[in-house]
Amino acid sequence: MTRPLAPVLVVDDEKNMRLSVRTILTDDGYAVRAIESAEEALTLLAQEEFLMVITDARLGGMSGYELITKTHARWPDLPILMITAYATPKLAVDAIKAGAFDYLSKPFAPEELLHAVGRCAERHQLLHQNASLRARANETYRLEHIVGESNSVRDLRQMIQTVAPTDARVLILGESGTGKELVAGALHCLSNRRNANYVRINCAAIPETLLESELFGHERGAFTGALRQKAGRVEEADGGSIFLDEIADMSRPLQAKLLRFLEDGTFTRVGGVQELRVDVRLIAATNRNIIEAIQQNEFREDLFHRLNVVQFRLPPLRERQQDVLLLAEHFLRHFAPTVKKPARRFTRAAQQKLLGHHWPGNVRELRNVIERALILENSDEIQPGSLPDFQIETGLRKPTGPKANGQQSLEEIVGSFEKDLIASVLEQHHFSLTRTAEHLKISRHALRYRMQRLNIGSGGDTEEDTATAVNRERA
Ligand SMILES: Nc1ncnc2c1ncn2[C@@H]1O[C@H](COP(=O)(O)OP(=O)(O)OP(=O)(O)O)[C@@H](O)[C@H]1O
Ligand SMILES: [Mg+2]
Repeated sequence: MTRPLAPVLVVDDEKNMRLSVRTILTDDGYAVRAIESAEEALTLLAQEEFLMVITDARLGGMSGYELITKTHARWPDLPILMITAYATPKLAVDAIKAGAFDYLSKPFAPEELLHAVGRCAERHQLLHQNASLRARANETYRLEHIVGESNSVRDLRQMIQTVAPTDARVLILGESGTGKELVAGALHCLSNRRNANYVRINCAAIPETLLESELFGHERGAFTGALRQKAGRVEEADGGSIFLDEIADMSRPLQAKLLRFLEDGTFTRVGGVQELRVDVRLIAATNRNIIEAIQQNEFREDLFHRLNVVQFRLPPLRERQQDVLLLAEHFLRHFAPTVKKPARRFTRAAQQKLLGHHWPGNVRELRNVIERALILENSDEIQPGSLPDFQIETGLRKPTGPKANGQQSLEEIVGSFEKDLIASVLEQHHFSLTRTAEHLKISRHALRYRMQRLNIGSGGDTEEDTATAVNRERA
């Protein structure tokens, strides 16, 4: 290591967990700072430099997810490792989407923790050696990186090759972890714009209020904290491509500005009057059901048509079974050099186990499963025992059915069942109203109304879309 490592910040409200993480890390030569709450973490992060953050998903006050979202928005380069209690791919995917670099599920072996921290340390080191954001943004994506021999993946590669050199706008749809970022990158790298910049913006990761100035820039004094004039990312992308990820999460007012930008390439910086123009190709993606978002009036239909010139739909992994083992072997080869373990193939039983799973987290989940298996496996073949017990993952807590006890009226019984059900879905979606409403197939408005009626707390004065203080008591 060329420079002394900054300490690791460990956030966990359980004392035993703090102690054991501290012991494992200090034994391996890391400096550690262990604290109890997310609030404390944010204060410390603003004052001192840390190598990375390790946080538990559940904390006393602000949750681990919120901590990740806030930290990631302010210090996007700081690696965050999330520790979750259950190995559900859903939670893992959510952690990654909130901005976590990696996650570990409890219980974990000391070497798993050290491996994950090692990767974060490496990344931290790399970022310091190469501060140029541009160089990182312009990493090359190639068609060969998109692994798969199913018809849908073959067609996908063919279509990328055809569409990339045109200037057509592309909308990429598909579940989380299906490879949308990979496709977007390949589209830029195979286009005639490949020598200009490729700018990526995740619309869900940047707070709504900052997204406009991130995209279009701002003039000095445009808002509190705007000390200097700042160029927008669209200017950085001039002559190249811009990838707007999670586009369905963009606010309606900003959608209107984006629409204008797409119509003639013009925009004004926040607080500015001058009309600016750039030449940018737009690629957008979302894992949400965009048609439903349009129906619920959350996404502008005219913007959808502007974006939807060419549409890519990435199939979920469970619909292309024959790619599962190909991808598994690909990831085994990919991780083998860094993990330094002897395993180079899977036993038949391990293959069967992989084929029997339905992969709700798609390729990302598979990738994580293989990396972990490789870390745990000491023989020269991956055994089924090194793969997670996939059964657990479908066992998300279900509310128990209502029962008449002769004391409550039908209305009361149904009401309390409904309350439990909504609370459990809210929890599953980390209290996001949008996602919960989507899951329950009702509008956000209807969800809010029911929550009010059933007295399910929604303390959302700061976070518009997040319900807090839900009554978590359960029988
Ligand atoms: N066909 C593929 N071949 C090889 N790797 C893949 C493939 N598809 C996805 N991956 C890998 O899986 C991981 C998840 O892919 P990616 O980040 O592109 O997903 P996504 O569709 O953008 O998901 P999200 O909606 O959660 O952002 C990445 O590490 C990516 O490299
Ligand atoms: Mg993505």
